[in-house]
Amino acid sequence: MSNPMSDIKGLAEKLRGLKEEKNAVILAHNYQLPEVQDNADILGDSLQLAVDASKTDSEVIVFCGVDFMAETAKILAPERTVLHPDPEAKCPMAAMCEVEFLQAKREEHPDAIVVSYVNTTADVKARTDICCTSANAVKVVRSVAEKEVIFTPDRNLGLYVQRFVPDKEIILWPGFCATHHSRITVEDLQALKDRHPEAEVMVHPECTPEVIDFADHVFSTGGMVRHARESARTEFIVGTEKEMAYRLSVDFPNKTFHPLEKAVCPNMKRITLEKVVRSLESLSPAIELSREIIERARRPLERMVDIGRDE
Ligand code: 13P
Ligand code: SF4
Repeated sequence: MSNPMSDIKGLAEKLRGLKEEKNAVILAHNYQLPEVQDNADILGDSLQLAVDASKTDSEVIVFCGVDFMAETAKILAPERTVLHPDPEAKCPMAAMCEVEFLQAKREEHPDAIVVSYVNTTADVKARTDICCTSANAVKVVRSVAEKEVIFTPDRNLGLYVQRFVPDKEIILWPGFCATHHSRITVEDLQALKDRHPEAEVMVHPECTPEVIDFADHVFSTGGMVRHARESARTEFIVGTEKEMAYRLSVDFPNKTFHPLEKAVCPNMKRITLEKVVRSLESLSPAIELSREIIERARRPLERMVDIGRDE
């Protein structure tokens, strides 16, 4: 539940003072509540936030997003204090790949390389050859020499990547995002399209193959921002978590964005402005990872960052 406007103003003011006092930067994912987006220093997709975390000069990073994103920031900026205002804001898909099963899969396919979506635990990243986000999954898989790729954990993203790399065998994992897999259907998009026939349909690659076939474009959340900026079109149906449409409407007030109201990620919504303020006041909860995990998970993440975005 978000706060009344007067509280938000007061919290925002408090946050400004605390940021200066603690030398902190607020990073927020595009699915965050409007009150959090409005008060972030940097808003972005998983890849951009990882890059920005690795480059920041601030002593403290307050990460407004789900657990794997805050962990990624800590791995790429281990000397910083990385705060995650609600540790219960977890991505359920990240829990769908467990290290024991990954190890077994590697033994089954000794010639395969392991590419893991950044939506994984730090332990899985530590046992991964190269990470990717939805902004560069195709480029990452194309970049590897191996013909067999174990792709964890999002099956839909793996299927999407397979369309662009027919020369490789993608060994899929049975993971999925409930928000994208079940709450965004062709029927939902068709109903919006019937109401807004001029709108272009953009969807996230975590959606099902049928939804992807229906869409005009498939993008990471950062790709949606870029497309909305560059496209001559002025009306869009936003086939991803609903707050993405808020982000786009703020950036492009002269264009219209239609969200799917039921496409909510309840995990992302756990971070409120009040929790952000409390976290910065107390400098907790902070992400803690062992030195060993940080060292092992860093390499696949750095490879991901170095590759950059799909064209
Ligand atoms: P992006 O990297 O496209 O922002 O997506 C992150 C995510 O969790 C999608 O559900
Ligand atoms: Fe995880 Fe899905 Fe939420 Fe993204 S939208 S953070 S994949 S549960």
